[in-house]
Amino acid sequence: MATKINFNGEIHDHLNISVLDHGFLFGDSVYEVVSTLNNQPCFLDKHLTRLYASAQAISLKIPHDKEWLREHLENTLVASGNDESYIRIIVTRGVGEITIDPSSCEHPNIILMVMDVTEYPKSFYEKGIRVALVSIKRNPHNALNPNVKTGNYLNNVLAKMEADRLGAQDAIMVNPWGYLTEGTTSNLFFVCEGHILTPSLDCGILSGITREMVIQLAKENGFHMEEGKWPGEELYKADEIFLTGTLKRVMPVSHLDGRPVGLGKPGPITLKLLRLYDGLLTKKV
Ligand code: PDD
Repeated sequence: MATKINFNGEIHDHLNISVLDHGFLFGDSVYEVVSTLNNQPCFLDKHLTRLYASAQAISLKIPHDKEWLREHLENTLVASGNDESYIRIIVTRGVGEITIDPSSCEHPNIILMVMDVTEYPKSFYEKGIRVALVSIKRNPHNALNPNVKTGNYLNNVLAKMEADRLGAQDAIMVNPWGYLTEGTTSNLFFVCEGHILTPSLDCGILSGITREMVIQLAKENGFHMEEGKWPGEELYKADEIFLTGTLKRVMPVSHLDGRPVGLGKPGPITLKLLRLYDGLLTKKV
């Protein structure tokens, strides 16, 4: 098992990047995290589509097409020899002058990281995780649109640090108007009286690929599924809470701000959706 890093088409075991890359200096980059099944990327097309959309949103021209990325990712996965991999696709603005102005960055860098994957412990799925509603707000659309997956994650880093201080494993953020948004690297769902609720895209969230799949699965399986706007306090009324994301899949939440959610263990709707999502992953690849 090995780490392989593809830098603009060449595979390396280690990689040093210039400190003058604006990705490093300013978080001026976009990225995707992709999981694998049998070392094949899951939902790669959706991830690549979102990568190009994120790049377009920050006027970053990716110098190659999706086919190029697919081919090089495939080679890098083979070179890694992993059973399963953690894939991170990063496109940075590239090296330029040490000023905020990106116009001197002529060559964006494409980095495909393929690493051995560390899965979340089984106990997280069996017992649920603890989350906290933190005071750090999710960025508003017109500051740094949360639906653009950039390498600027300081908002989320600060939220995670606050959650740690509160004894929680992850943070839930509200937007500047007090409406629920998402976790630090995941989307938020909660269940109230049998209805599955999730903040709508206009609350200021990343349109998660797992979120999209879970919404679809919930609808197909006869659940009442609603996207909308809810104030942070609404979460205290939830019978179940779960987070979704490429690495977390469907992650049950047992405690919110130190108080048990429902019975303080994964609820039946969460567990059903976890099963359905895992089933979908196995079918898709
Ligand atoms: N994060 N919200 C945020 C802020 C995220 O960073 C992510 C993904 C998600 C879930 O999106 P998806 O289901 O497409 O993975 C929601 C990845 C996993 C990360 O940065 O590690």
